[in-house]
Amino acid sequence: MAIKDFYLGNKPYAIISFFFLVTYTVIAQKEIEVPISQRVFELMAKMTLEEKIGQMNQYNGFWNVTGPSPKDGNAKEKYDHLAKGWVGSMLNVRGAEEVRAVQQVAVEQSRLGIPLIIGFDLIHGYKTISPIPLAESASWDLEAIKNSAAIGAKEAAAAGINWTFAPMVDITRDARWGRVMEGAGEDPYLGSLIAAARVSGFQGSDLSNPNTVAACAKHFAAYGFAESGRDYNTVDIGENTLHNIVLPPFKAATDAGVKTFMNSFNDLNGIPATADKHLQRDILKGDWGFEGFIVSDWGSLKEMIDHGYARDKHDAGSLGLNAGSDMDMESYIYISELQSLLKEGKITIAQIDDAVRRILTVKYELGLFDDPYKYCNVEREQSISGSQEIREGVLDMARKSMVLLKNDQSLLPLKKEGQKIALIGPLAADKNSPLGNWRIAAENNSAVSVLEGMQAYKGNSIIHEQGVRLVNSIPAFHEEVSINNTDKCGFKAAKKAAKKADIVVMVLGEYGFQSGEGRSRTKLGLPGFQQELLEEIYKINPNIVLVLMNGRPLVLNWADEHLPAILETWHLGTESGNAIAEVLYGDYNPSGKLPMSFPRSVGQMPLYYNYKSTGRPGADGADAGSVFWSHYGDEKNTPLYPFGYGLSYTEFEYSDITLSANEFTKGGTIKASVTISNIGKVKGKETVQLYIKDHFASSTRPVRELKGFEMVELEAGASKKVSFEISEELLKFYSASQIWEAEPGRFSLFIGTNSSTKRKADFQLN
Ligand code: NOJ
Repeated sequence: MAIKDFYLGNKPYAIISFFFLVTYTVIAQKEIEVPISQRVFELMAKMTLEEKIGQMNQYNGFWNVTGPSPKDGNAKEKYDHLAKGWVGSMLNVRGAEEVRAVQQVAVEQSRLGIPLIIGFDLIHGYKTISPIPLAESASWDLEAIKNSAAIGAKEAAAAGINWTFAPMVDITRDARWGRVMEGAGEDPYLGSLIAAARVSGFQGSDLSNPNTVAACAKHFAAYGFAESGRDYNTVDIGENTLHNIVLPPFKAATDAGVKTFMNSFNDLNGIPATADKHLQRDILKGDWGFEGFIVSDWGSLKEMIDHGYARDKHDAGSLGLNAGSDMDMESYIYISELQSLLKEGKITIAQIDDAVRRILTVKYELGLFDDPYKYCNVEREQSISGSQEIREGVLDMARKSMVLLKNDQSLLPLKKEGQKIALIGPLAADKNSPLGNWRIAAENNSAVSVLEGMQAYKGNSIIHEQGVRLVNSIPAFHEEVSINNTDKCGFKAAKKAAKKADIVVMVLGEYGFQSGEGRSRTKLGLPGFQQELLEEIYKINPNIVLVLMNGRPLVLNWADEHLPAILETWHLGTESGNAIAEVLYGDYNPSGKLPMSFPRSVGQMPLYYNYKSTGRPGADGADAGSVFWSHYGDEKNTPLYPFGYGLSYTEFEYSDITLSANEFTKGGTIKASVTISNIGKVKGKETVQLYIKDHFASSTRPVRELKGFEMVELEAGASKKVSFEISEELLKFYSASQIWEAEPGRFSLFIGTNSSTKRKADFQLN
């Protein structure tokens, strides 16, 4: 009304209104201009010790979702703590309404009204599910990966979430470990770029934007090196591997501005990561200058007692805080122990203040103090959740994530008309498995199945048979099923269908929860009766396209030897069936490249392309009959499909490499180029990869390492020159002097279509 009067020339009101407006604007402006550090400082000056410790305390929602359930059923206690301001964060509370309810208790009932930061495992989409992270990484498309994180953030933020426990940036070399599905695979260079892309996708350029969430680089550190691929297992690696392989993606996430870190369950060289002062205080908060906060993993403070490292809860609290863990996720230890530890002088108030300052700073940056309910608008949630934009985003990502492993005689793409197709397999019509693991907010059975996707193409007739059934098994988490291994009654109908068909499409692999946390496996073949079914069908009709759904590399020797076509689709998310059908019918030309090597045998684990030469190399050159070189007596050293491998419906030809010079000095650069041509019949995308080998160094170096890549899209018949700049920076590694440096000497570079390319040029760094 005041503004209207002012414009209508109603003078007395206009003057009063004008002064009101100016005063208000000045105050508001001042509020905005007060730097966050000052606001944090002023708030902390008002806080009691209990309230400070409360900020370092994180509780799960009042039910059990992602971890062992609290034995004491302590919902009432949690509620009281919330109301007293003794809780800084909650996880697994979701939905605008529900988040508003807990936020209201914290903001309206506690003395200082400090808002909660609401955490959630937004790993690959919220309600609308994008491909599992390993699949997205197979796209090698950083923009697409960033966009996928951004749309996931948008949907989750509209549902009250403002902090995701992602990205998981653990390097993974062992496919037995179920959590390989959550990461970017085996390579630190690709992993670092993807870590940065995901962080900037989640956080955007402005954390206070209501479409973004704070990200969390996890698990710090070396969780991916769990011995023998068994989850939560011990890790024993040296400095060389730690610095050159494990830490780079964490550093990249830090450089990309990630706001939080999570430490990990494992012990590393004898010290549980949660209590690792060197990692958290010296490296992360010290050398790297990380300003955000570190949350423990679920109960990891308490688990230090089982590790045999902490005497009791009291000791665990002291170890955790001294090491730099700022927030306690569900151990209930900081809340119960920090006060007495402080009195005993085992921790300091400066440590508590530092942790609280870090936590409050992120809350201010999220804008939670300006509006604690900014993520809690039900209408907004409804309009964003499952919107067209989000569906299209996950579909786009799904298309880009598939990897064509084999396509003899161009069996794929399928003809769109006049074909009788037998669609066989337990996963063919499954609408749950494609969602993969970590899809807590998704509705069960909400993915488009392969059957549905293929039925949208009307020109062919499709007979569908499961062959092997999915059976209900562990009802503990969501709707778990397993792939039948007791009953072959579906074989008969499947064989009958195959007999009548021109083409058989078999959809086999792992059910959605067969990979992920706590899902380590010692066998990496097709589970249950699937392999047997495949071989039986093959005897009847060998014209088989194998569509794989899985969360980790599998052993596929038989399939590779016998079948004409294999398409790796991973767990592709909500739009799975639509994306797969587009690829099967050639409306999308597959372009993915493997982010992890596919083994020939479980016995090769851990398997990775950037291995060390050893003093007895010979994978390529050893005499067939000789014994004393680094190899297996019963299997090749090489993978079945190498890192970086993936085919297209077209074919690419590479020229030889040209170098602008074959030596350079530190500070200088040289350029390596190839010309790539599409010599096939259709347009396609190829990811041109650059690998470098350092021939001699102060500590042993891998046989080659990815150091660059470029994705090119070419029309049939077209060519393009692709160049990479080789600089000192690219040649740096964590050397025997314990610094990152490039050591002068002889190098080779390789440019080609995957990590086994032989196209090579040599150069010298002087
Ligand atoms: C345990 C997992 O290791 C971690 O990655 C996850 O974020 C937490 N649980 C919370 O669900």
